[in-house]
Amino acid sequence: MDPEQEAARERGRGVFYSTGGCSCHTNYPDEGSDAPLLAGGRAMKTPFGVFYSTNITNDLETGLGRWTDADFIRAMREGVSPEGEHYFPVFPFPSFTGLRDADLTDLFAYLKTIPTVARANRAPGASFPFSWRATLLGWKWINFKAKRLRDDPEKDPDWNRGNYLVNAAAHCGECHTPRTLTGGLDRSMWLAGSEDGPEGELAPNITSHNDTGIGKWSSADLIWYLETGLKPDGDDTSGLMSEVIEHGYSNLPREDLAAISTYLKSIAPIESDVSND
Ligand code: HEC
Repeated sequence: MDPEQEAARERGRGVFYSTGGCSCHTNYPDEGSDAPLLAGGRAMKTPFGVFYSTNITNDLETGLGRWTDADFIRAMREGVSPEGEHYFPVFPFPSFTGLRDADLTDLFAYLKTIPTVARANRAPGASFPFSWRATLLGWKWINFKAKRLRDDPEKDPDWNRGNYLVNAAAHCGECHTPRTLTGGLDRSMWLAGSEDGPEGELAPNITSHNDTGIGKWSSADLIWYLETGLKPDGDDTSGLMSEVIEHGYSNLPREDLAAISTYLKSIAPIESDVSND
């Protein structure tokens, strides 16, 4: 293989890990560890109905086999399919819009190395008006702006890397931020936890508020957690967080995990108790 192509795939593997290993596209809950990698069909329960993740293998008929790099970049950054259809925001394009084009082409090159699986996509079981794709245009107008995430020259590279990882690639806010009535992320409660996270799971407050967030976690605690899924009190992680750790974040270099911690510690603590206990 052309060495440049090989290098792109290798870099793309790193981007893939930073997204959490695109875990939502593998149906682990129903098919366990035999689930065909990235072939979709996973039910994502949301307050607006059930959505099924799509096949992102390189299959010509049911996957991304006919997509160009430009198609992939547009889907990720603007939430629009090659046919011009708007995606439901269960697909976290409002975060992925911050990704750099070079990272996206590398990621796409890496995805092509995953074995191809023929599996047709399933239509959502959403309730009106969320089943109506045209409504998404209105949703986007209210809730979304395609926007690159630029480095802040006032901040050091470690912080900027953390900002890019948390807010674009790793899309932590998509699960850890509560949603407004129209299903957009509530920007005033960024990372302050959500009772209706994906698949109906509770995603805790991860701002550094001492009582309701993770203010008492040290940087080493957080890095250890993203590597192993073990919390400082010895508890294990369940659900989607354990998947994005296992298939994604735990494979990132230590500097990236430290950057995530630097960034999270820098943002304002928000008091919001979303715990069940
Ligand atoms: C796909 C959804 C999803 C994404 C993406 C996600 N999380 Fe989570 N996270 C969760 C859920 C759900 C839990 C609760 C897990 C549990 O209770 O075992 C959780 C738990 C946590 C906890 C434990 C907090 C506590 O008080 O116990 C931390 C810390 C955390 N996530 C940080 C992050 C960071 C940092 C990112 C981005 C790098 C991230 N998460 C991305 C869903 C997500």
